[in-house]
Amino acid sequence: MSEKPSPLFTFLGGNEGPWKVLRAEAVLGKKLPDFAFLNILPGPRESHVSKLATWRHSGAVSHERYVLRREHEELVKKQEGLGRPQATLAAMILISKTPQWWAFSQDERRKIFEESSEHIAIGMRYLPAVARRLYHSRDLGEAFDFITWFEFAPEHSGKFDELVGLLRQTEEWRYIEHEVDLRLIRA
Ligand code: HEM
Repeated sequence: MSEKPSPLFTFLGGNEGPWKVLRAEAVLGKKLPDFAFLNILPGPRESHVSKLATWRHSGAVSHERYVLRREHEELVKKQEGLGRPQATLAAMILISKTPQWWAFSQDERRKIFEESSEHIAIGMRYLPAVARRLYHSRDLGEAFDFITWFEFAPEHSGKFDELVGLLRQTEEWRYIEHEVDLRLIRA
């Protein structure tokens, strides 16, 4: 039987890594400890405890919760993958949602997430310029519920800021209680 690949990744902030931190902003709530470089390694945090790091956070790449079939197909058609050579800039936005959000049922969350906030419809307009990956951390008992990761070329930096600005005005963002926004460049 072939071994199942782990969906877990660990983000390590410290003195080494392929991404250099340009700036770190605590949008809502506490900031992170300072670190200059970021590394993203496969596996759970326990497999990286020997590495020197001032910050450590793990997340799992998981199945989709909200997208409808037609949205899924449109995303697949439009999006590009991580690691494109021209996408030398990245954003790591850490997010936790409120207890009220988590107390909602799935249909109530979807209503806020898409019917009211149009998260997918807005995001779609920024594809394929922005490549993205969502990591789920809440069930791992981590500090944040999500790690969101984005890669884009320097000429799309303004567009990315516009996207983040639009999402922060939505109803969905009223259910965010902790948000930290880090911008990075390939080291
Ligand atoms: C690049 C354009 C974007 C697209 C196309 C996009 C699309 C999506 C989609 C399809 C999901 C739902 C996945 C599922 O079904 O479970 C999602 C979830 C999420 N996105 Fe985005 N997104 C974009 C940008 C952003 C940005 C800029 C942020 C942060 C500022 C963000 C934060 C999140 C978070 C936190 C979730 C998880 C929500 C939850 O499960 O409660 N997204 N996104």
